[in-house]
Amino acid sequence: MKIGVLASGGGTNLQALLDAQISGALAPGQIVVVGVNVEGCGALDRAQKAEVPTFCLSHKGFADRSAFDAALAAELGRFDVQCLVLAGFMRILTPGFLESFDHGVINIHPALLPAFPGIHAQKQAFDYGVKFAGCTVHYVDGGVDSGPIIAQAVVPVLPDDTEESLQQRILGQEHKLFPATVQQVAAGRVSRVGRKVFLNSK
Ligand code: GRF
Repeated sequence: MKIGVLASGGGTNLQALLDAQISGALAPGQIVVVGVNVEGCGALDRAQKAEVPTFCLSHKGFADRSAFDAALAAELGRFDVQCLVLAGFMRILTPGFLESFDHGVINIHPALLPAFPGIHAQKQAFDYGVKFAGCTVHYVDGGVDSGPIIAQAVVPVLPDDTEESLQQRILGQEHKLFPATVQQVAAGRVSRVGRKVFLNSK
């Protein structure tokens, strides 16, 4: 399955996906292109070092979301992307764009959804005083972190945690959960009935 990845930041989740690809742990998924919307971001550098095709498309030159998404779809279409993976891509995507991938669009969010959607999710959880936090891999729909949940991982919040230490503990789980879940999707082990997503272990 041809996978495209979009990112905007440092790209540690992208790196986990690239490492999985190199070790064979993503198969039958294959990352065919990495796109970024922020020039010079770490994710772009990581993809180039891994010798995966890349493109950089800034959203700034576009009149509206639809125009940007149309250009994005054209870039991804050149690589026949079947499944799109968002690894820290900080843009809302339009419904028409989301529907153009046969195997959907998948995101990772650093909280146990539906709690703490949106930005600074780890800070939201830390400030709230939860005892367990974590991360969620989910299909993307038209809302903010509101699509069907595929997989989650939980971490404890420890008494001497800072926002930073909690963020790092969550990130450690993200790097395991994301490649493993993308591999399951690529292997066709995921079935979906409405909002409910099941992983079929074979
Ligand atoms: C991660 O925390 C991810 O959950 C969120 O954005 C962050 C990206 O970090 N969607 P990185 O660029 O992968 O290091």
